Amino acid sequence: MSAASRRPRTRSPWAELRNSTIHGRGLYASKAIPAGTKIIEYLGERITKAESERREELRLEKAQRGDGDGCVYIFELNKRHDLDGSMAWNTARLINHSCEGNCESSKVRGRIWIKAMRDIAEGEELTFDYGFGVESWRSHPCRCGTAKCVGYIVAKTQRWRVRKHLRADARRVTRKT
Ligand SMILES: C[S@@+](CC[C@H](N)C(=O)[O-])C[C@H]1O[C@@H](n2cnc3c(N)ncnc32)[C@H](O)[C@@H]1O
Ligand SMILES: [Zn+2]
Repeated sequence: MSAASRRPRTRSPWAELRNSTIHGRGLYASKAIPAGTKIIEYLGERITKAESERREELRLEKAQRGDGDGCVYIFELNKRHDLDGSMAWNTARLINHSCEGNCESSKVRGRIWIKAMRDIAEGEELTFDYGFGVESWRSHPCRCGTAKCVGYIVAKTQRWRVRKHLRADARRVTRKT
């Protein structure tokens, strides 16, 4: 085991790990969190875009083989660099997506913070919009269960495209029956 993988899990005075009703494990508010609070930093390895693409391809290959957890942990830092937060000690990596999240990721001087978008009650699961593109939307079903859920993990700005595809699917099914 390398020294990096032995690093202790990052902690937050605002959040704790629990089994999630959305997926696997998630992060929950351990006390009431005021809007605007920096809850936890999203940490990881700073990598170039080329390395980021290489790792994403590897992840997809593994997922196709049914190997690995299939999770996406890469965050965009700027035009040249991304942050790979897949390390077990990066507790923020366990925050799930929601189509109506209570947190947002915020870049502050080259660091990524998970911030409260509104007041969050003790015991609420912390979630944010993963901001996934629309390209492979069918591979990422969403189980956030909110009223605004489009059924797939896709950035808020792209959800209208998914809704359009779903309406077309529904029309095709109606024509066949
Ligand atoms: C970075 S992990 C989040 C932590 C994850 N819950 C775990 O226990 O490892 C991201 C993965 O969690 C799952 N996930 C996150 N949000 C989800 C959601 N709203 N609906 C369904 N799956 C979700 C997806 O498999 C996604 O690729
Ligand atoms: Zn959703």
